Amino acid sequence: FSLKNYNTFGIEAKAAQFIAVHTVAELRTVLQENKDTPKFILGGGSNMLLTQDINALVIHVDLKGKRIVDEDDDFVWVESMAGENWHEFVLWTIGQDFGGLENMSLIPGNVGTTPVQNIGAYGTEIKDTFISCEAIAINNQETQIFTAHECNFGYRESVFKNEIKDQFIITSVVFKLSKRNHKISISYGDIAAELAQKNIITPSLKNVSDAVIAIRKSKLPDPKELGNSGSFFKNPILTKKDFAPIHSKFPEMKYYEISDTEVKVPAGWLIEQAGFKGKRFGDAGIHKNQALVLVNYGQATGQEILDVSKKIQETVYEQFGIKIDAEVNII
Ligand code: EPU
Repeated sequence: FSLKNYNTFGIEAKAAQFIAVHTVAELRTVLQENKDTPKFILGGGSNMLLTQDINALVIHVDLKGKRIVDEDDDFVWVESMAGENWHEFVLWTIGQDFGGLENMSLIPGNVGTTPVQNIGAYGTEIKDTFISCEAIAINNQETQIFTAHECNFGYRESVFKNEIKDQFIITSVVFKLSKRNHKISISYGDIAAELAQKNIITPSLKNVSDAVIAIRKSKLPDPKELGNSGSFFKNPILTKKDFAPIHSKFPEMKYYEISDTEVKVPAGWLIEQAGFKGKRFGDAGIHKNQALVLVNYGQATGQEILDVSKKIQETVYEQFGIKIDAEVNII
C-alpha cells in the first residue's frame, strides 16, 4: 500500500498493511485484533519524514466530528475528533466568532496530532487554549483523558513525544475558546504590518486569520504543490551563558529572549547564513522563502531529504557552534 498521498512530504514509501478507522469502536477492534502485530499510527502525515517502507500495520486515524460540549457567558468548550483537518477546524471556530486559534490558521495536519508537538505560530501555541484530550492506550485499549498539565507541553514538545511516546492514540481534543472580549494577539512578526496595509485598526478574528493566511502563503510552500513538512528544524534554545561567546563572534545573529536565562535563535537565519536557502540537491531542497522548510521537488526519497538535513546540521554547527534538531519525526 503506497503512503505517498498520506504524508505531506509526498515521499513514496510502502506500508505492509494499511487500515483507516472511522470510529473509536472500530479503532478499538483493530487494536484488539492486532495485538501482536507491530503498529504504526498515522494522522495527517504532516510532521514526519518517511525514510523507509513501514513493515507494520499502518492505522490511519480518520475520526471525524466536532461539537460544542459546554459554554458560559464568556467561553465555549469545543471538541474536535482527531481526524478533522486542523485548518478547516480553525475556520469553523472563526466562522462562529470563537477566539483563540486564529493565529494558527493554515497549519497543515489534523487536530489529533496538534497536542503531540504543541503546534504554534505567530505568538500562540495549542497549550494556550487546550483543555484536554482523550486517548486510547495501544496495549489495552483503555481510554485515558489527559489534562493540559498532564500533557507537559513545551516548545514543540509534549508527553506524547517523550515519556509515553508511541503508547497512546489521541482520539479527540477539547479547546476553550472565547465568545467575547477576544484576546487579539498581533504583536508577533508581520501580522500588524499586514493589517495596517489593509487599514484594519480593530481587527476581528477573521481579519487576523486572513493576515496569518496571507503571510504563511507568501513564505511557506503549499504541500499540495511542493511536498514539505513545515519547519523541518526547531529553533535552538541556548543558555545565555552559552550564547554570549557566540553572539560576540556573530553580533548580527538574531535571537529572542525567552526567559531570564535562555534565548531562542531562529534556525532559519542560521541556515540562510550557512548558504542553504533555495539550494537544491537532486529533488531535495531548501525552500527559497523560508530556510527552515525542506522540500521535495517530486521524486526525492526520504533518505535524500534526511541527507540534506544532516548536511545542514553539520554546516550550521561548524559555522556557528550551534546544534539544530529536527522538529519532524524521522521514521
Ligand atoms: N529567518 C531568516 N531566514 C529564513 C527564515 C527565517 O533569516 O529563511 C529569520 C527571519 O528573518 C526572522 C526569524 O528568522 O527574523 C524568524 O522567522 P519566522 O518568523 O518566519 O519564524 P520561524 O522562527 O522561522 C516559527 C515556527 C513556524 C511558525 C513561525 C511563525 C518553529 C520551528 N517554526 O518559524 O512554524 O509558522 O515561527 O510563528 O518554531 C512549523 O512548525 O512547521 C512552522 C512553520
